[in-house]
Amino acid sequence: MENRRPMIAGNWKMYKTCSEAVAAARSLVALAGDADGVEVMIAPPFTALTGVFDVIRQSNIYLGAQNLHWEAEGAYTGEVSGQMIYSAGCRYVIIGHSERRQYFGETDESVNKKIRAALAANLRPVICVGESESEREAEKTFSTLDKQMQKGLEGLSLDQMDSAVIAYEPVWAIGTGKTATPGQAQAVHEFIRKFLADRFEETTAHKTRILYGGSVKPSNIAELMALPDIDGALVGGASLDPETFNNIIQYR
Ligand code: 13P
Repeated sequence: MENRRPMIAGNWKMYKTCSEAVAAARSLVALAGDADGVEVMIAPPFTALTGVFDVIRQSNIYLGAQNLHWEAEGAYTGEVSGQMIYSAGCRYVIIGHSERRQYFGETDESVNKKIRAALAANLRPVICVGESESEREAEKTFSTLDKQMQKGLEGLSLDQMDSAVIAYEPVWAIGTGKTATPGQAQAVHEFIRKFLADRFEETTAHKTRILYGGSVKPSNIAELMALPDIDGALVGGASLDPETFNNIIQYR
């Protein structure tokens, strides 16, 4: 546990214009810009990346993107590459979010290509996995996660995995106000860590941060962070307001 630095990441999804994003970043820098026991990352929409980076570059807050294309460049209208988002100041990129799987046809195969592209561009991938409500009800939680990770992490080396972060986001808990119970979350995080130990090495499993996402709020963060295999949170709705997000960052 000692060498896994807790991480609190904010996924702003498709919220905030450029000026709104810059204003929120300014408030967040004032509140949490010197956070050091916790690594803080925010992922604004593409259009706000450079503006937000100008605001946070002197602070301890990292910038992330919410998606990338797997090619470095080319005739792919509407897409953005890893090199491009790195050059905008990003050091992280969220990959395979359930909303992208659900609405934009992302598959474990495209997730795998995107992870490789992120690593090639020196970006740390935040790899999202999680089961739907019907998969949980059918007792397919672990088999779903096993498949997402087998295919998503296919071909990755130990060194590559060292740069990655996993985010467990049960689909039924995203934006619904329903949070996994501490028991449910811990069981899945433990499963993911065991998967990493089997697929890579014990040390990889020990070093990799596994974040929880799904209706994380100031009122439930401490209880989640107290669990042995939860190393941080990927926060959606509650990351949009800087004060609320700061209350999550300062969970201790
Ligand atoms: P909410 O925190 O709004 O449930 O969203 C979670 C999420 O999808 C973060 O990526």
